[in-house]
Amino acid sequence: MEYKKKIYIETYGCQMNFSDTQIVGSIMADHEFDTTKNIAEADLIFVNTCSIRDNAEQRVRARLKEFNRYKKKKPGLIIGVIGCMAERLKEQLIEEEKMVDVIVGPDAYRDLPRLLNLAESGQKAINVMLSADETYADIDPVRLESNGVSALISIMRGCENFCSYCVVPYTRGKERSRDPETIVNEARGLFEKGYREVTLLGQNVNSYKSKPGIGFPELIKMVALVNPLLRVRFATSHPKDLSDELLKVMAAHPNICRSIHLPVQSGSDAMLKRMNRKYTRDWYLGRISAIKQYLPDCGLSTDIIAGFSDETEEDHQKTLSLMTQVGYDYAFMFKYSERPDTLAAKKYKDNVPEDVKGRRLQEIIYLQQKLSLASNKKDIGKTFEVLVEGFSKKSKEELAGRNSQNKVVVFPKGDFKPGDYVNIKIVSCTTATLKGEVIGDNAGKL
Ligand code: SAH
Ligand code: SF4
Ligand code: F3S
Repeated sequence: MEYKKKIYIETYGCQMNFSDTQIVGSIMADHEFDTTKNIAEADLIFVNTCSIRDNAEQRVRARLKEFNRYKKKKPGLIIGVIGCMAERLKEQLIEEEKMVDVIVGPDAYRDLPRLLNLAESGQKAINVMLSADETYADIDPVRLESNGVSALISIMRGCENFCSYCVVPYTRGKERSRDPETIVNEARGLFEKGYREVTLLGQNVNSYKSKPGIGFPELIKMVALVNPLLRVRFATSHPKDLSDELLKVMAAHPNICRSIHLPVQSGSDAMLKRMNRKYTRDWYLGRISAIKQYLPDCGLSTDIIAGFSDETEEDHQKTLSLMTQVGYDYAFMFKYSERPDTLAAKKYKDNVPEDVKGRRLQEIIYLQQKLSLASNKKDIGKTFEVLVEGFSKKSKEELAGRNSQNKVVVFPKGDFKPGDYVNIKIVSCTTATLKGEVIGDNAGKL
């Protein structure tokens, strides 16, 4: 197809948003728009946005100001805001950011061609309808910025958990699961193109449920059976729905990676209740024990929020003690940011002073660095199978990949290339990386 116009898309937020950008790229390609990485040659600029914390929105607003400068130089340039901020702010965004021409929510991407026609004729175009059934199941994502080795596959959309602090149920709508056949076909297609790792994505993959009664354990098994050389990962699991059945399926399929991201948010029962997380500290620790029982070598990571409404010093200490008890390999750590219209914004005061939030977050980050280093040190002397992704960040003489536990492993490049499986013996580490040496080419077996 001959492309007439060029679109530049910048993406913020979670993996789901990055996956959506590929869907948007595909819809646009069907309408004669080619994606470009060079903003200067774009006829259309989209920013796929995130509303999860205030600073995520501020970053987008700053970018919009810069895009406006391009627009002044290039009349006719169309600027669109898509994703969660579009959904949260709707028309308000056009009132606030005058140069925005198109606003499209996460369930309305099929309507993009019509909306662009409107925008090209000088009208402001907006569609923020949420859907109860849109999964974009039939759209083959354009694998933008891909390393050709790992790919994201969106398996469900939306979230109905309504954690009190969280904006996602409002920006992403009702939970719905994609048909399993289309997921397996996508995984198979990727494998045939040379991909060696897929990440199954949803806000809470453990509540995946498709019409014929297939739950997440059955689905992940189907994907794992595509080929033993295809690694399968998933994100994110809500602790309340992490079943023993899933752990059993993981244990039975070595190509399902030994890595679970299980966001805890807080170690205090009082906070967990206020957050509407629907589990207690003990219950969470019970799930960690189950993971360690079925998958003794499983990597563990989490999300933590510091300074939620009414959080006391004692609550904070409970978070620190839980982190030590679990011994996470990695964590994403945030200061609580009140989001308009959420349950917490309506019911609970954002009353932990900014400096206290900052100090608690620093303590959490400091502890996690110690835990990550301790976990990496334990790996020295062990041998891992590493899937090569590309050069290391620091040197073209080194390659980097991940082990099953999701740790980054760096080693001398030899004759290996992205997509190869290589056995690496770990000889040293930092907080963020394992370093090792090749002890054999493992292509063909897992
Ligand atoms: N669905 C995923 C999380 C999606 S949001 C899950 O439930 O695990 C990613 C993380 O952002 C959350 O786990 C939480 O730690 C953080 N987060 C969400 N809302 C937040 C807020 N208002 N302030 C600070 N952090 C927030
Ligand atoms: Fe937000 Fe909770 Fe849903 Fe995760 S499970 S997206 S934190 S409401
Ligand atoms: Fe952000 Fe939306 Fe994802 S709010 S974290 S981009 S679902």
